Amino acid sequence: MSFAYLTVRDRLPTILTKVIDTIHRNKNNFFEEHGEEGVNAEKRAISFLSKLRNELQTDKPVLPLSDDAEDTVAWNEYMQRQQDMMEDRQPVSWFKSPWLYVECYMYRRIQEAVWLNPPIGDFDVFKEGKTQTFFESQQAIMFLCTHLREVLTSMDNPNEKQLFDHFLKFLQVSLWGNKCDLSISAGQDNSQKISPIESLASLQRFILVDDSDQVWSALMTLQGSRETEKRGARVDLILDNAGFELITDLVLGDFLVSVGLAKEVRFHGKSFPWFVSDVTKKDFDWTIRQTMASNHKQMSACGVQWKRFLKEGVWSYHDHRFWTLPHEFCDMPTDAADLYTDLQGSDLILFKGDLNYRKLTGDRDWEHTVPFARALRGFRPAPLCSLRTLKANVQVGLQPGHGEMLTSQEPDWMTNGKYAVVQFFCPPREQ
Ligand code: F6P
Ligand code: MG
Repeated sequence: MSFAYLTVRDRLPTILTKVIDTIHRNKNNFFEEHGEEGVNAEKRAISFLSKLRNELQTDKPVLPLSDDAEDTVAWNEYMQRQQDMMEDRQPVSWFKSPWLYVECYMYRRIQEAVWLNPPIGDFDVFKEGKTQTFFESQQAIMFLCTHLREVLTSMDNPNEKQLFDHFLKFLQVSLWGNKCDLSISAGQDNSQKISPIESLASLQRFILVDDSDQVWSALMTLQGSRETEKRGARVDLILDNAGFELITDLVLGDFLVSVGLAKEVRFHGKSFPWFVSDVTKKDFDWTIRQTMASNHKQMSACGVQWKRFLKEGVWSYHDHRFWTLPHEFCDMPTDAADLYTDLQGSDLILFKGDLNYRKLTGDRDWEHTVPFARALRGFRPAPLCSLRTLKANVQVGLQPGHGEMLTSQEPDWMTNGKYAVVQFFCPPREQ
């Protein structure tokens, strides 16, 4: 049985059941905030979601969205595209459509349940889990913040080698931070409790492709280029999960600007709750506020600094509806031309996580030796790098025989979250 099939059969209904339970547990809060209207909204949302779970479990055709959001038309058009691709005109159903599509679709339908019931339209069904992992990872967060502040104060006039060593560590911490997503564990605890820096050496052998030195060279080339010297390099970080992973990304963003490797870092999040643990604007702001408010001196110093970066515009937060559409990234130039044009202005784009990797590569059944550049199928807004721990059945850019060897030793190597890649692509210069 494929991982995709098991996800749709087991993991997605479990997630839906948890969402229903969360909404139900918040009934009193809805009543306090909105009176009877809140309770009615709760009832309607639960009945909508129970029906959705039944549609999924009995392999019913997927339905067009019935809300009136900014992205509704795009979703319904995409559904039609899936339909047009079906052989013998069968309807697109939960088990008979591409996994990437149907999984994204479920999260959008959950949001439909919330949006169709305006009194609770702002409710984040995944907030509790995200908050919990943040609090459960406090020790690791304090450790990481302390390490960052110590590195920054100790580096008066660092040579390139020292800078590179630190860069590598912060990049790898952000990479392994991606182990902490909540959708693979269907919402179970996935918090980080041990020192993230100390574990790096033992994790090195699990990085299957490590293009970190190319990422470094790209940043170094920018330092030397006259054009970027004037305006400074811009790094775009396409975020994945809240909780510990977000902290690792903020720490990386802090390091990049504090040592002058970047002049500007743009964080990109999701515009509604997505894949259980993904970062929304509210999560982003909440995390910075919590970090600032910590009793731990170094942690709160980080929070204060991050707030300052945002205020000064050195950091900024962005969301675009494309990140919560089911489209592969090679569709971006046609389906979200404004976002593609925006990303073309970047000097380096870091894509966090597994879902972004699936969208970069179109989630195809590629041979493992297919070059990353080919799997991107023309998606080339700027130099880009995927920082991803493997949780789905797609992996490209391996040496011949490597994938086969892994399969023979550990059949679930692509989905057990033990392995990772740092995979870089640089578009060729225009002549
Ligand atoms: O369930 C599908 C999936 O894409 C997995 O591959 C992964 O567990 C999860 O969803 C998302 O992971 P990430 O947060 O790293 O994108
Ligand atoms: Mg995620």
